[in-house]
Amino acid sequence: MISNFYKLILKILRIRYGNKLTLHGFPLIFNKRGANLTIGDNVIINSSFLSNLVGLYSRTIIVTRTPQAVIKVGNNVGISGATIYSRKAIYIGDNTLIGGNCKILDNDFHPIEIEARNKLMTSYQVTEEDDLIPSKEIHIGKNCFIGCNSIILKGTVLGDGCVVGAGAVVSGHFEENSIIVGNPGRVIKKIK
Ligand SMILES: CC(C)(COP(=O)(O)OP(=O)(O)OC[C@H]1O[C@@H](n2cnc3c(N)ncnc32)[C@H](O)[C@@H]1OP(=O)(O)O)[C@@H](O)C(=O)NCCC(=O)NCCS
Repeated sequence: MISNFYKLILKILRIRYGNKLTLHGFPLIFNKRGANLTIGDNVIINSSFLSNLVGLYSRTIIVTRTPQAVIKVGNNVGISGATIYSRKAIYIGDNTLIGGNCKILDNDFHPIEIEARNKLMTSYQVTEEDDLIPSKEIHIGKNCFIGCNSIILKGTVLGDGCVVGAGAVVSGHFEENSIIVGNPGRVIKKIK
């Protein structure tokens, strides 16, 4: 019942979702006007502490922050207490599992350059932000398994079937079926 009410809110926020969206707890989903946020069929989103027994530190947060931003979550995807925050584009392929407390950030939130960073802190200008905050698309393939507490940074491309180890910090392009661990995330082996 509450879940149905929540789904109504998603519709009001112009978030498109497929059949059988399962919500355990309430994710925080924010869709900027003009942005494109799509969730596929059979998606499970865990957002309460014990909805995944790894223990979630926060609700799932899914945000499109600019009118151009895109988030596309494929079919049969599981998301547990993750943050998925897009200024540009984040694509998550079918059958991919996103482990507890994972962060997927296609941008740096703040400019790298000091003057620009200080300027944005004092005068908030959305159009300027768009130019100054480094942002690059993230592509996560199908059948990937992203370990708990990992961080996927801007510009990352994970081929189909990649596994990201618990606690990894991942940036760059990785071939399909790679197992990536550590900080900085490196391939330790390939799945046959
Ligand atoms: C990445 C992972 C799948 C690798 O499993 P595996 O293929 O069985 O690998 P192994 O345990 O044989 O470890 C291989 C090597 O990688 C290292 N390693 C494994 N996982 C690691 C990780 N997350 N971070 C750093 N190093 C790691 C091991 O220490 C080992 O190093 P060595 O060869 O020097 O001894 C697994 O360790 C992992 O992190 N699973 C994610 C668990 C998780 O988060 N589940 C979701 C909860 S919501």
